[in-house]
Amino acid sequence: MAFTAKILLLGSGELGREFVIAAKRLGCQVIACDAYAGAPAMQLADGFEVFPMLDGHLLREAIDRHNPDFVVPEIEAIRTEVLAEVEALGVTVVPSARATIMTMNRDRIRDLAAGELGLTTSRYRYAESLDEVREGARHTGFPCVIKPVMSSSGKGQSTVRGELELEAAWHYAVANMRGDRRRVIVEQFVDFDYEITLLTIRARDGVHFCPPIGHRQERGDYQESWQPAAMSSQAIADAQAMARKVVDDLGGYGLFGVEFFVKGQEVIFSELSPRPHDTGMVTLISQDLNEFDLHARAILGLPIPEVTLRGPSASAVILADRESDRFRYEGQDKALAVQGGAIDLRLFAKPTTRVYRRMGVALARAGDTDVARSLAVQAASAVRIVYED
Ligand SMILES: Nc1ncnc2c1ncn2[C@@H]1O[C@H](COP(=O)(O)OP(=O)(O)OP(=O)(O)O)[C@@H](O)[C@H]1O
Ligand SMILES: [Mg+2]
Repeated sequence: MAFTAKILLLGSGELGREFVIAAKRLGCQVIACDAYAGAPAMQLADGFEVFPMLDGHLLREAIDRHNPDFVVPEIEAIRTEVLAEVEALGVTVVPSARATIMTMNRDRIRDLAAGELGLTTSRYRYAESLDEVREGARHTGFPCVIKPVMSSSGKGQSTVRGELELEAAWHYAVANMRGDRRRVIVEQFVDFDYEITLLTIRARDGVHFCPPIGHRQERGDYQESWQPAAMSSQAIADAQAMARKVVDDLGGYGLFGVEFFVKGQEVIFSELSPRPHDTGMVTLISQDLNEFDLHARAILGLPIPEVTLRGPSASAVILADRESDRFRYEGQDKALAVQGGAIDLRLFAKPTTRVYRRMGVALARAGDTDVARSLAVQAASAVRIVYED
């Protein structure tokens, strides 16, 4: 068979699943990897491998065995040193091994953004002991947010309102961090008006942007996202200038999800994913080319056309509320019958549920983002996870 390219996908969740679809449409062969069998992207890929991607030895073995043209990470928790090793041997790591290493560690990306690149960020300090946490909080003031330097999806993160809560926050961060660096970032709490993800594509033909995506987070996980986020053209220009600086520094080709807080006219850089972003799932209904299509095109060195917004759109998540491996979805008919706009669903077919595990997403497009948001939420709540045990 004549494939366009061979891709080893590291992480096979719902974002990986949509990426497989996009890559396969362009003729790629995809081998999907994750720590468990039956993961969403594996169900659609040409082949799959089950192993923990933080295990450097097994990761290297999988890369050597498949000898892919591209290694495409879908998640953060990967033994990134191995990515640097294989990149040195000529495998293309997407977007670059350096980008995966820098963004896996909050301190590295923050030092780059706030330090070298001079972007506006919240005030922050790093701390490796409770005493240093206290010192950090004196610098940021209260409230402040304490996060392990290595963690994602809000894990180990807490907002602290006063001196007395610092100790619990430090222990919580240490207990929920990934890896073995007992290090946290103490960050000034930004009382933002809203937060956005700016999907930024670094491609052979230059840097491109999608219209900003607004989102709402709970427990460190996104609940709803919408596009376009209402934002002044000056604020968009400021965010774009900052995003361009970071992605040009990180290098390589691919789509990045650059996160900002906006307060008044001030745009504050928060962090970024060097890959499609979960809040970007709204592009499955809002854009002619979704974030996965754009990622695939950029990786393959293809041109990126002007992105066309089909109309104001929103996504809302469908969550499980307990642990089970015997369950089914119900209510798809009711969800897709919601009136007032275009409605669609993505159901991830994960093999098991957990409390708050994302099992699907409802998508809506309507006359304005408020209506789209309300339709997406209605459709999401019409889908129910029914447990059979
Ligand atoms: N300094 C802050 N001030 C106010 N809110 C914050 C701050 N830091 C984080 N948050 C809130 O917590 C959310 C998650 O934080 P952040 O993006 O830093 O962590 P994360 O664990 O990497 O999450 P993810 O991997 O899901 O993007 C943010 O989107 C924002 O809503
Ligand atoms: Mg984030």
